[in-house]
Amino acid sequence: VNGKIQIPVVVNVLYRTSAENISLAQIQSQIDVLNKDFNAQNSDYNTANNPYSSVRANVGISFVLDAVYRKSTTKTSWGTNDACKKTASGGMAPTSPTTKLNLWVATIGGGILGYAQFPGGSSSTDGVVIDSKYFGTTGTATYPFNLGRTATHEIGHWMNLRHIWGDATCGNDLVSDTPSHNAPNYGVPAVGHRSTCSGTPLEMYMNYMDYTDDRGMYMFSNGQKSRMLAIFAAGGARNSFAQ
Ligand code: ARG
Ligand code: ZN
Ligand code: CA
Repeated sequence: VNGKIQIPVVVNVLYRTSAENISLAQIQSQIDVLNKDFNAQNSDYNTANNPYSSVRANVGISFVLDAVYRKSTTKTSWGTNDACKKTASGGMAPTSPTTKLNLWVATIGGGILGYAQFPGGSSSTDGVVIDSKYFGTTGTATYPFNLGRTATHEIGHWMNLRHIWGDATCGNDLVSDTPSHNAPNYGVPAVGHRSTCSGTPLEMYMNYMDYTDDRGMYMFSNGQKSRMLAIFAAGGARNSFAQ
């Protein structure tokens, strides 16, 4: 390991319509968002009235577009059962999944924006699936999920982050500098919004691991950064990505 973590990204595009066969510009716009969001370079990083500015993190992980593969299909939606990752079900197998982050861009259906595999799973299904309408910032990217934050959120899961509300009422996300939340937040919550969990903390609804609209999320915390970096350290489940 020589310090900086740089992740090669393989993008697998599955398309039936020409709109689903998103442009290289749309793909590159997503890579650009990831490089901003994971390096404290996003334009909303310094949003005023952020009660959590003291724990916001420059994660310091960068992403490089490595390859784009495209496949035409007759399927109208792929669901969340990993069919898109398997040639036997008409999908595309990942390329070098122990050293490259594979993204699948396809219509998922059911109102799902994206889904991720946590560290420690099978390499044959490792990576992140994102609906083409919520990928990048141009082309078919659709408001209010048109700022590329679905990939930021899902790659957070891929790097071992839980949802900020711990997937339970006042649940635990295993990160100590994020407050307890009652439940996911949607839209863009009002400044000063508090949880009714123990201590009634201000909620960190501007965190990428909440469920707000893309324009409402703009930070990871230092505790989340530590949890992500641990996965790439010696003995970590994604150490094969560290060069
Ligand atoms: N619902 C999805 C998930 O939990 C993604 C949520 C992404 N949110 C966003 N504003 N883009 O995996
Ligand atoms: Zn999630
Ligand atoms: Ca926490």
